[in-house]
Amino acid sequence: MEAASCSSSRYSYEEYKETAEWLRDHTEQRPRVAIICGSGLGSLADLLQNKTVFHYKDIPHFPISTVPGHAGQLVFGSLQGCDCVCMQGRFHFYEGYDIQTVTFPVRVFHLLGVDTLIVTNACGGLNSTYSVGDIMLIKDHINMPGFAGQNPLCGPNDKRFGERFPCMSDAYDRELMALAKQTAAEQGCDSFLQEGVYCMVVGPSFETIAECRALRTLGADTVGMSTVPEVVVARHCGLRVLGLSLVTNIAVTDYDSHEKANHEEVLKTTQYRAQDLERLVTHIIAKI
Ligand code: HPA
Repeated sequence: MEAASCSSSRYSYEEYKETAEWLRDHTEQRPRVAIICGSGLGSLADLLQNKTVFHYKDIPHFPISTVPGHAGQLVFGSLQGCDCVCMQGRFHFYEGYDIQTVTFPVRVFHLLGVDTLIVTNACGGLNSTYSVGDIMLIKDHINMPGFAGQNPLCGPNDKRFGERFPCMSDAYDRELMALAKQTAAEQGCDSFLQEGVYCMVVGPSFETIAECRALRTLGADTVGMSTVPEVVVARHCGLRVLGLSLVTNIAVTDYDSHEKANHEEVLKTTQYRAQDLERLVTHIIAKI
């Protein structure tokens, strides 16, 4: 059965196509790379040249983001000679969107001809060797909402996007990871580069101490409230993915600690590390 004919699917194929065609009609740029900017990391889009900017509210079918630190615009432009489209503000499940709305832009990117997705986010560090300000290359993820029945691919499968049972053991592209590591060394970022497993939780409440301990035991190095649904949908439609996660706080795993996770700390850390992350992404893109 095709999703387009099934009422349980959030969007029809035609709706994704309408959005992609509207964007094509409004810009001559034809990006190969899409970048989704995490909380406080949207300034990357400001580096694009020959920009065309669309506010989410003006794009047909596009949702609107509600989080402080997220601008809510789609920016087309060129970075290091490479045509890119950049989401300045992503959609989170905790904002109340359903999981298919959260991932809507990814299929639009695919229909626009994008073949590579770069995702950035803010996360809490669970691995005790990590420090605030570290950038973690995501080598794998744990889809906690997926365990609880919130996988964006649930529902009828539309073969025009991908197969019913997509593989996820190769979700994060090894070649792009190697490129990122090489670039980090060249850019003097290797002293704060980590590589590990990102676990998505829904939020918006931060984790309890017991939850942090449980996630660490499960094999997670970091925890955050985004990214995984977009990656699942990207892999389903064949995009290569690179994930970079900025450790903005250390998750509390000790009952004697007086530390408390909070959004202000998250934004403060992104402010002081945003430039390094931008530099890293820019130089990675130059090599793609
Ligand atoms: N937990 C979940 N999401 C986050 C965190 C955290 O500690 N820090 C930034 N995003």
